[in-house]
Amino acid sequence: RESKDQLVIDAGQKHFGAITCRSCGMIYTAANPEDETQHIKYHQRFMEGIKFVGWKKEHIVAKFWNGKIIMIQPDDPKYAIKKAEEVRELVDNELGFKQTTLTCPNKTVTYLYISNEKKIVGCLIAEQIKKAFQVLPDTVSYEVQTLEIMERHRAWRCSTIPQTAVCGISRVWVFSLMRRRGIASRMVDAVRATFMYGSYLSTNEIAFSDPTPDGKLFATKYCKV
Ligand code: ACO
Ligand code: ZN
Repeated sequence: RESKDQLVIDAGQKHFGAITCRSCGMIYTAANPEDETQHIKYHQRFMEGIKFVGWKKEHIVAKFWNGKIIMIQPDDPKYAIKKAEEVRELVDNELGFKQTTLTCPNKTVTYLYISNEKKIVGCLIAEQIKKAFQVLPDTVSYEVQTLEIMERHRAWRCSTIPQTAVCGISRVWVFSLMRRRGIASRMVDAVRATFMYGSYLSTNEIAFSDPTPDGKLFATKYCKV
């Protein structure tokens, strides 16, 4: 009897603590049924959302050893726009953004980083803008917020002197288990090379809107390079 109890306890302990799902990246407690249910729900939605079947007409803007970047523009076929929206919903969900529609869909370009395994591991949404306000330094930082976003939140202290910017990055996201491998940097490089036909945008001409702490760290580093 004693050894049986022991077995039960051991089996239970295996499930204590946090588990990170290697497919969807969610951290959950396996011993907690509510957590497990949450995970299954999230897992299915996430896996469906990041699945990329491939299209006949793909606008590939860059290729790398571990994947490629495709661009989706407002006048692209419906299936492409739909996929971009699906990914944006996943990203917004993770970022805690409640806004469900874009301010200006006809000026929005989506960049997706597709892995060789045909999964979307990165997403960047860029919008055409005219003005941006530099975030005032905690330390010295170069990222700026777009006017529209700034009116909604005032998360960071901003300069009141507008700067001319061409491209606002409203969202940049990389799959949690693939971060710190240069994926976001490559997506921003792709934006700078392709957002405005015939010119390579300088870091002063791009603005990160309403950055999260991760986004701020990334943008600060990227813009200094
Ligand atoms: N902490 C500190 N430095 C960072 C971080 C971080 N979390 N992320 C990036 N950096 C810096 C590093 O110096 C890094 O170089 P290193 O790894 O050689 O040190 C450099 O930026 C380049 O980083 P990348 O590898 O290109 O960035 P990554 O692919 O990891 O993506 C991102 C960064 C998009 C911010 C990712 O962490 C993420 O998806 N976070 C969750 C979603 C999010 O908060 N997105 C930003 C929202 S704000 C907005 O969209 C405008
Ligand atoms: Zn999972």
